[in-house]
Amino acid sequence: MLSQLEYQNLLIEQDGAIATITINRPDKLNALNEQTLKELAEVLDDANNDAEVRVVILTGAGKAFVAGADIAELNALPSAVEGMRKARYGQSLTKKIERMRKPVIVAVNGFALGGGCELAMAGDFRIASEKAKFGQPEVNLGLCPGYGGTQRLPRLVGRGMGMYLCLTGEMIDAQEAWRIGLVEKVVPADQLLPEAKRIAKLIASKAPLAVELTKQSINEGIGVTLAEGLAVEALNFGLLVNTEDIKEGTSAFLEKRPAEFKGR
Ligand code: COA
Repeated sequence: MLSQLEYQNLLIEQDGAIATITINRPDKLNALNEQTLKELAEVLDDANNDAEVRVVILTGAGKAFVAGADIAELNALPSAVEGMRKARYGQSLTKKIERMRKPVIVAVNGFALGGGCELAMAGDFRIASEKAKFGQPEVNLGLCPGYGGTQRLPRLVGRGMGMYLCLTGEMIDAQEAWRIGLVEKVVPADQLLPEAKRIAKLIASKAPLAVELTKQSINEGIGVTLAEGLAVEALNFGLLVNTEDIKEGTSAFLEKRPAEFKGR
């Protein structure tokens, strides 16, 4: 069971297999300072190691999802090396999300700017409230994206649109984000968490190892050649043949009854 006690800037809620992590620093629009990054890394590790948790929802409190890296901290960066370390630290969090065994659904409730957009892009998919806004405004600050924006954004929306958003710093609304493929679904604000939880429960009802290895196949395959990606897929397919859950899933189908997966 995940515990709220250790976190100042996060709210943790666990409802059976679904863990909802809410970034909660609303007076600074949930800007990612070092403390918040550290807490996120810790809670994601805990969620990954918690056998009960099958799906994680990541969202923000108030009018922002995350309005970026903390600009006060950026302003105080003492050297190029510290800047590089900061980028790598933020990037390590985004990689952690991608490498998690459990799917991470990002429920974008408001501003997802700079590091907020980058954090959202590291999730497995994104559901946005109609009030959400997206952008990579780093050029306005004399910076470039540092938590993966120049890499994940073009991979999600194409080189031209990725270039457009990173070079102009322009903010786009949820409908435009959906049109370009930055989010998978847009819902009214009051439906955001119910819809995220509905989808999380749907995924949590599937065979856990099949979910884990599907996520892994997609994420490992995306950066390599098709032949290498297909090899990863075939290996994972083979691994699943050795589980109790394939017997249960296929037997349940043949016996016309719901499957009861054990994650074994
Ligand atoms: N880092 C640190 N503090 C931030 C922040 C950030 N990325 N984004 C917002 N804040 C703070 C503001 O400084 C303000 O703090 P204050 O009340 O102590 O002055 C508070 O959050 C509220 O923000 P405010 O700008 O007053 O809200 P707004 O509704 O007028 O504007 C935004 C909202 C998102 C348009 C605006 O806050 C903004 O442009 N933020 C920076 C976005 C950005 O460049 N992110 C990339 C960073 S690399």
